[in-house]
Amino acid sequence: MAHGTTLSGSTVLVTGGGSGLGRRMALLAAERGARVLIWDLSADGGANVRDEIRAAGGTAEAQTVNVADRDAVKAAATEAGPIDVLINNAGVVSGRLLLDAADEDIERTFNVNVLALYWVTRAFLPGMTSRGCGTVVTVASAAGLVGVARQTDYSASKFAAFGFNESLRAELRSGGSGVSTLVVCPYYIDTGMFDGVRTRFPLLLPILKEEEVAVKILDGIEAGREKLVLPPLVNLVPAARILPVAAFDRLMDVLGINRTMDHFTGRPGTGHAAGTAPEAE
Ligand SMILES: NC(=O)c1ccc[n+]([C@@H]2O[C@H](COP(=O)([O-])OP(=O)(O)OC[C@H]3O[C@@H](n4cnc5c(N)ncnc54)[C@H](O)[C@@H]3O)[C@@H](O)[C@H]2O)c1
Repeated sequence: MAHGTTLSGSTVLVTGGGSGLGRRMALLAAERGARVLIWDLSADGGANVRDEIRAAGGTAEAQTVNVADRDAVKAAATEAGPIDVLINNAGVVSGRLLLDAADEDIERTFNVNVLALYWVTRAFLPGMTSRGCGTVVTVASAAGLVGVARQTDYSASKFAAFGFNESLRAELRSGGSGVSTLVVCPYYIDTGMFDGVRTRFPLLLPILKEEEVAVKILDGIEAGREKLVLPPLVNLVPAARILPVAAFDRLMDVLGINRTMDHFTGRPGTGHAAGTAPEAE
């Protein structure tokens, strides 16, 4: 177990904090006494969550930032000042078959889900390292442990996020930096991002509740957990790789993994399903 970071009195940055899981983590972190900074591409989304936190008596700021824009990240980080807990949560999905996805969808997936991890973490890690404390959270996915049909870009981006976290953890450990990492690999969550997905065995692989996942992540940050895989059955995926490929694929098919996206619509109006970035308002 690594060092935990107490949220009360800490400054927490949540990327993609304007909706879904990010919004919920922002609200709950503020309830636990953190000062919360929300970064989102959607100016309205970020401002609404900031206002919700303030209305409940908490402390929050919001900045409209495209985390995939390296220069914008640098400028916003300078304005933001020191951060104790960085939650790299912003993410996008297009949900298309490889040959149906537009080139731009694929680029956007990697820009937001992968490259942004580098720009945002590189902006705040020097401060954390010099203070000798803090936590960097990478919100990956169960799709970062197993490839899923209609997710060639999304799943590959989440495998990259998982690898990003593991390499970063190794670097921080060998440098004795005092900064902790937490990687999060949830199955589907009821945020709307994956609207339309279906799960074959809801008792074994339930669609997770946004609040439940947010609470577990915040508990993990405070306890110094390094990996959070939800639900627990998903932990068997790496172990199942000892099977021959055909048997592994059969097991995933029996669990219905590769049919989950058959009725995927994504969140209407955000452009996620259509693979276009929501415009900053
Ligand atoms: N919903 C799920 O089923 C699920 C499952 C596993 C992992 N995840 C991951 O959890 C994270 C949060 O997902 P969610 O379900 O809350 O999605 P969501 O769509 O509700 O929220 C994502 C937020 O990120 C913001 N965003 C998108 N691109 C951005 C950019 N370039 N710069 C800044 N902000 C940007 C959006 O405006 C939005 O507010 C994502 O990384 C997602 O991949 C989600």
